[in-house]
Amino acid sequence: MSYRARILIVDDEPLMRVPLADRLEMAGYEVTAVATGEEALAAVATALFDVAIIDLRLPGMDGLEVIRRMRAMNCQADSVVMTAHGTIQTAVEAMKLGARDFLTKPFATEQLLDMVQRYVRVRTATVPESASGPRTTDSYFGMIGQSPAMLEVFRLIEAVADTDATIIIRGETGTGKELVAGALQQRSSRRDKPFVKVNCAAIPETLFEAELFGFERGAFTGADRKKKGRFELAADGTLLLDEMDEMPLVPQAKVLRAIQEHELERLGGIETVKLKMRLLATTKVDLRERVAQGRFREDLFYRLNVLPITLPPLRERGDDVLLLGEHFLLQAAQETRRPARRLSLHARALLRNHSWPGNVRELRNALSRAVMLCADEIVEPVHLGIEPVQPPSPPPPSLAEAVGEAESRRIQEALTATGGHKGKAAELLGISRKTLWEKLNRKTR
Ligand SMILES: Nc1ncnc2c1ncn2[C@@H]1O[C@H](COP(=O)(O)OP(=O)(O)O)[C@@H](O)[C@H]1O
Ligand SMILES: [Mg+2]
Repeated sequence: MSYRARILIVDDEPLMRVPLADRLEMAGYEVTAVATGEEALAAVATALFDVAIIDLRLPGMDGLEVIRRMRAMNCQADSVVMTAHGTIQTAVEAMKLGARDFLTKPFATEQLLDMVQRYVRVRTATVPESASGPRTTDSYFGMIGQSPAMLEVFRLIEAVADTDATIIIRGETGTGKELVAGALQQRSSRRDKPFVKVNCAAIPETLFEAELFGFERGAFTGADRKKKGRFELAADGTLLLDEMDEMPLVPQAKVLRAIQEHELERLGGIETVKLKMRLLATTKVDLRERVAQGRFREDLFYRLNVLPITLPPLRERGDDVLLLGEHFLLQAAQETRRPARRLSLHARALLRNHSWPGNVRELRNALSRAVMLCADEIVEPVHLGIEPVQPPSPPPPSLAEAVGEAESRRIQEALTATGGHKGKAAELLGISRKTLWEKLNRKTR
């Protein structure tokens, strides 16, 4: 290990703290182990840590307060909290305050070690070579992209693919979430094991539990034989819960338990099935919003959100849109056995400026259509079927007009806000009374 990551352990129980510290040191980390929150903060004030492992129940200042203060001190360590069994709510509180992950006691030391290793890898992994090559045809598990935001996605995939961690993949529709899931599976040591996908948007609400968890014979009318659910089918492979944001509330409780306890019971069954699969999930919306709306369980959200990978929308990927455009043109030409096409300068400008609400999927569709419509070698804007961003409109106002307009709007707002009181309005606008008076006079002239 060239870089020795620094780990902070905060636990008042020596029987916990000392062996943990030994084990982490054996694994090559530089460890500082302390017994109280006060000591932890003193350590954070003098050294930079990569990962902090914090017991939530401490004498004096408790773990939550430690996290709160570490944050106030702008400590950049990833923190993992340890909590007693059955107090998940406190763990959720800790995660709201900025903790990354939690473990319920008792846990196997190896579990903690895995977690630490994962966060250290996320911090130190570099961009995979296959993705940073100069050729435009290079792709990383089918993903084309050279923009900093995409290189960061590839870097994260490299860092976390071969771990057991649950990963949530976020991104607008069409940004390539399924490709990321595929890359994570391909890059893991589970690549030869089953890869089971569940599209949560496609399962009727009443069938969710049966689909996910399976059922025993006779569990309900029509259950004439035992059936394994998707969780069980994934066995020691990978389970992808695609479009997780569409999962109804009721099955969410059971999913949480399955992830948390690594076990489930089939519907109508008493036998406990042990789960060893690795879980991936995708969402096209910010699940925090769903939590706020009461449509997504908060505890499940925090359980999933430990290692998010966020795909940038296409409009934030700079010239990637052109790389992708050329790639799709070539692909479409090959599929339709037509000669290869090129993008005109205007077409390139249009691609670059379009907002792409449907992201890469929309781009791919636009270009395959263009190949069909375009008889010449060069694809022009008219073939692309997307509106130019700024349709011809009345000539824009001059700068002076625009400034004047904005100014009178602000003045009006200030006057309304102060009930017409000119002195207060001037104060609000940060100008003198005299200036306001002059401006008002000029307007009425
Ligand atoms: N970076 C990329 N490079 C090449 N093709 C991509 C890329 N991102 C997405 N695609 C393609 O765009 C389409 C949408 O991707 P998908 O993973 O289904 O999106 P999502 O699941 O986020 O809606 C697919 O055809 C996929 O192959
Ligand atoms: Mg998808």
